[in-house]
Amino acid sequence: MANLERRKFLGGALMAGGMLLAPRRTRAADSRIEILVDEPIGKISPDLYGHFTEHLGGVVYDGIWVGEDSKIPNIGGIRAALVEHMRRIKPPVVRWPGGCFADSYNWRDGVGPRAQRPVRTNFWADDRATERYRTVTGGPQKYEPNHFGTNDFIRFCRLTGAKPYLAANLRSLSATDFYEWIEYCNSLPGSTALAKLRASGGDAEPFGVRFWGVGNESWGCGGNFTPDEYAVEFRRFTAWVPRYGVDLAFIGSGPNGGDIEWTRRFFSKLIEKGIGQLNRLYGWALHYYCGTTGRGIATEFTVPEWYELLGKADRMESLITRTWAVMGGTDLERRVKLVVDEWGAWHRQSDDVPASFLFGYPGTLRDGLVAALTLDTFNRHADKVVMANVAQLINTIHSLFLASEDKFIVTPTFHVFEMYAAHHGGTSVRTLFSAPTISYQSGATTSRLWGLSGSASLNERQLVLTVVNPHATDEREAEIVLRGAHIKSGEATVLTSADIHAHNSFANPRALEVRSAEVSVRSEPLVHKFPPASVTRMRFSLT
Ligand code: AHR
Repeated sequence: MANLERRKFLGGALMAGGMLLAPRRTRAADSRIEILVDEPIGKISPDLYGHFTEHLGGVVYDGIWVGEDSKIPNIGGIRAALVEHMRRIKPPVVRWPGGCFADSYNWRDGVGPRAQRPVRTNFWADDRATERYRTVTGGPQKYEPNHFGTNDFIRFCRLTGAKPYLAANLRSLSATDFYEWIEYCNSLPGSTALAKLRASGGDAEPFGVRFWGVGNESWGCGGNFTPDEYAVEFRRFTAWVPRYGVDLAFIGSGPNGGDIEWTRRFFSKLIEKGIGQLNRLYGWALHYYCGTTGRGIATEFTVPEWYELLGKADRMESLITRTWAVMGGTDLERRVKLVVDEWGAWHRQSDDVPASFLFGYPGTLRDGLVAALTLDTFNRHADKVVMANVAQLINTIHSLFLASEDKFIVTPTFHVFEMYAAHHGGTSVRTLFSAPTISYQSGATTSRLWGLSGSASLNERQLVLTVVNPHATDEREAEIVLRGAHIKSGEATVLTSADIHAHNSFANPRALEVRSAEVSVRSEPLVHKFPPASVTRMRFSLT
């Protein structure tokens, strides 16, 4: 994205459902979006729109899994409302079972007859950070009943149409356990003892799991390794695994945010045994959370705090480009891509969710904008990022859903994922956004944020443009100029509210919804008013 010089454009307008089209205006647009249709960046992997589910707080128990005997509508124990809403966003891939939980998890505990599965202490049982969570003394969030295991997760994936991405335990299990989990999942029907064990859980046919995380946050909860130590472990774990015809894709545990040294040293150590070692690595994971200061309250913030969070979320762009540059120092042929398998805005646990829902809160419009600008960032780097997984799917951190007992609501982030599903599989094309920048106070510092940002993708003659206007109070009027094509027709949908704190709740589940408008294009250049604090998706048919 380039910041062009601020220019004024004259033209007229015809209002059609919020979109101004014909050049008859008396006032000048102060912003401009150029879409360079003939300048492809790369294909947008649908996997950029992936999800993350961990045995943490209310994600699995009460979120995904309600149990077969529950009065809550379910499909074999899986919450039916969740499946139904997941289908609407076409989830490409779901990561499970953690997170930090993964490096404490023994997959064998979660297979075989449910009634005989052992209860274990959950990794998060002793989390001291949240006062309310400390009052919880029992339950599945503290003592893992293993009612939701590998077969159940695969069923969830199949119900929602997502591919599974399993995170393996590198800290507290052996390489044997790793390749036997692969064998359990992928071996041919009846071929091994583990294939028979899988079949006894109702799945004779292999799961064909392709994506395997080799540890998680191995610099921290995943083993406290140095990058050199982790590189040695990574080589050992991946030195031999059974393949069963599956094109296995291993994902290495990458840096915490901007820790460039972790990446540099891992890559250097990995190739000590030859440059071919890079072929073992499908993706290099990057984790980034843009928390509020002191893990502030999700629904209470000032206008400067609104900008501050959006500014922090915007760091994703430099994290991608900096990490990518370091990877390129070793990986000259660019065999390895980035997998941002944890991202999101992390606020303090809210009083509006059950005490056991560690890190749970209702996301606001602000979190919706964080999601949108992050997805736009991924689109703009579609040549580098092959997968991303928002943390987490339900009831924790930057969730798309909140559910408790029979109550179920969507968050603004769900709406953004539904709007942005139109980008799946398109080709990201270059865009140039020009708009007056925003100044805001962040502590003693005056900081600046761009005035408009977004991304565009092309699928045959269909163009999708998504745009974030971060200004808390001002609309932005922009000319939309296509280079290399003309617009035949268009439509727009928008997520916004007069209140920047707007969010859905169990009491008011539809406080924030997407509005849509059909548009008939009369002439070019097209002019559009982007409302304050908004996410807009436009779809154009091109001639
Ligand atoms: O998403 C919550 C936690 O954040 C994950 O378990 C861990 O990987 C990260 O630190």
